[in-house]
Amino acid sequence: MKKALLLFVSTLLLSGVFATPDEGMWLPNKIAQLNYADMQKLGCKLTAEEIYSINNSSLKDAIFQLQSAEGSGFCTGEIVSKQGLLFTNHHCGYEAITSLSTTEHNYLDDGYWAKSLKDEISVPGIRVTRVVRIDDVTSRVLEGITDETSEADREKAVAKAIKIIEEEAVKDTHYEAAVSEMYQGGEYYLFVYEAFSDVRFVGAPPSSIGKFGGDTDNWMWPRHTGDFSIFRVYMTPDGKPSTGYDEKNVPYVPLHSLPISIAGVEEGDFTMIMGYPGQTERYLSSYGMIYKRDFFNPSIVSLLELQLNTMKEDMDADINVRLALADSYASNANGWKLFDGEALTLRTTDAIQQKEKLEADFQKWADSDETRKAKYGEVLPSLKASYEAFGPATYDIIYLSLGLLQAGQHVMNVQSFMGLAKLLEDSKGNADAISSAIENLKPETEEMFTKYFPATDKKVFTAMLKMYIKDIPAEKRNGVFADYIFKTYKAKTETESLEKFATAVFTKSIFTDKARMDAFLAKPSLKALKADPMYAYVEGVFGDLFTVQMAYVGAMNGIDVNERLFIEGLREFQKDRTFYPDANSTLRLTYGTVKSYDPRDAVHYKYLTYAEGIIQKEDPTNEEFKVAPELKTKVLNKEFGRYADKTGNLPVCFLSDNDITGGNSGSPIINGKGELIGLAFDGNWEWLCSNLLFSVDLQRTINVDSRYVLWVIDELYDAQYIMKELDVRTTK
Ligand code: ARG
Repeated sequence: MKKALLLFVSTLLLSGVFATPDEGMWLPNKIAQLNYADMQKLGCKLTAEEIYSINNSSLKDAIFQLQSAEGSGFCTGEIVSKQGLLFTNHHCGYEAITSLSTTEHNYLDDGYWAKSLKDEISVPGIRVTRVVRIDDVTSRVLEGITDETSEADREKAVAKAIKIIEEEAVKDTHYEAAVSEMYQGGEYYLFVYEAFSDVRFVGAPPSSIGKFGGDTDNWMWPRHTGDFSIFRVYMTPDGKPSTGYDEKNVPYVPLHSLPISIAGVEEGDFTMIMGYPGQTERYLSSYGMIYKRDFFNPSIVSLLELQLNTMKEDMDADINVRLALADSYASNANGWKLFDGEALTLRTTDAIQQKEKLEADFQKWADSDETRKAKYGEVLPSLKASYEAFGPATYDIIYLSLGLLQAGQHVMNVQSFMGLAKLLEDSKGNADAISSAIENLKPETEEMFTKYFPATDKKVFTAMLKMYIKDIPAEKRNGVFADYIFKTYKAKTETESLEKFATAVFTKSIFTDKARMDAFLAKPSLKALKADPMYAYVEGVFGDLFTVQMAYVGAMNGIDVNERLFIEGLREFQKDRTFYPDANSTLRLTYGTVKSYDPRDAVHYKYLTYAEGIIQKEDPTNEEFKVAPELKTKVLNKEFGRYADKTGNLPVCFLSDNDITGGNSGSPIINGKGELIGLAFDGNWEWLCSNLLFSVDLQRTINVDSRYVLWVIDELYDAQYIMKELDVRTTK
């Protein structure tokens, strides 16, 4: 009782002194000027220069973005040893872990711990990048552009300037560069990167730890997930970034690596998170929010739900199907719950009303001055009109892209064969081009048929098409139905016709069977392609895209300009507010404190969970809540070693009020001394509209505690090969 009271009093004190709403994903090169004083007040002991510097090594040098081989960022990872060891979330390593898993070596279910360098497994699908420096290039990009410049001219001038700046930045270096747009085109920043393409898998706990609680607990507190996995970055023997796997490559020597603190966290402790948040729309109008609530989210949610349920039946029945589909299932399930929860919070909280209030004030301000009125007076009414027109068009486009073009796993691959079809129109004249096109297609087709299960694919494909014709009235459907499917596969009902068509796709098409594909590639012909039911289907869908696309693009145009003007106006209107740009996959920093919350009436959520909670949630009949026997024994015996806190229990996850979003996953959460205290991995259910509006009271970041991470590595699995590289700090 006493303890609880004390905690309560100290919370009151803390919130009284440091009543800072910890909103914002800040540009690291701006914090010295904008945020540092505030950070110090909250408990940051590092200097601004130790966090971000272009002259000396600093915190930012340990923060990497995880990207696909093609360079699109999906998560964050941090360097934790002088030999390039990288921590990230289990759900960030998930695709790598599943793709390396087989029924014999099932790293997904059983976990994996390398015991030497040669046990580290190459992951061809991942590359990582680090920020070398960030420059504000706004004045160069917008030079010569005025309010009178037309949108088309503006776009051209901006693109041209960006190209020159990017080329200049990498000239005579091994760097990569990208100019990123901020404030919808109000400002521009140059990011210079160093990229490493030899990344290897070092370790991960079994899914029963790394994904404990599964999709049921996903996006929710209280949480007990050990959401971490371990990789290593490699460089060339002469210390240059690796361009791909090479056995001669050596562990990367970083400019900075994070020490790990196991001294623990308490409510009110300073925290900061550095990483690569993907996308927010914090300056979206209420009309944009309503549009998401009523059109965008519901259409995605219903399509994903059907896809997931259909996949799951087969995944539960066959472990091979499960290993093959686990990654796309997990990411779709994650998106499904996010979009559903976002729409729910938009319906049930005051998020939209808060925006409406701001907009009413903005409109009054704009209208009270003639010049302002001319520039900003029509911004909100135009946005309202655009979004109202945009809603129904979005429904059509989501049903088209998700419902038709991603109905089956290989529908999109057909596109790669359209160029070949063009060449095959003159097979003699194009003989050389055809054979090189075939060579180029081989790796793609190879990948299409690894771990491919056509029976499951057929089920999903058929279900998605059926849903399309159920939800979209005949006169609004894509022409492929009336002009191709129902005509070629005649039957008594539309449903039967669809089924006949699907059977043809899965018994005849080269896109659903490797032997058929190989035979085609050995002897390609236009006739075979044109007669292929999957090819004909995609050609049909593309043939009738125009109307839907035009409606979409038309509405989008007006929205872009007015959203830029809205932010520009807001920044004039709220002169005293410090603005931060929306997330766009570039490096950001968010700071705040460890903090509990009250999710609803009469309920208080503590900021910390303990291992005991894992046992409370255990359900051997449910895959999501199975507990590994080795873990259970140790937890029941309280074998926590040095990782227990002063209560003698083992902390698992904790809450903070940092401002993060997707893409931040895997980011280090760091204390005031620059030590890793955990990994950020999730947001919370009560405020899933956080991409659109920040909430001081209801929005939290969910982190896995470094004490749990190290306990799993050190005590539970005795992975000393990993432990011995880490710089573990035991005092606060
Ligand atoms: N919600 C987490 C995020 O978006 C991903 C969690 C993945 N886990 C899962 N059960 N699907 O970063």
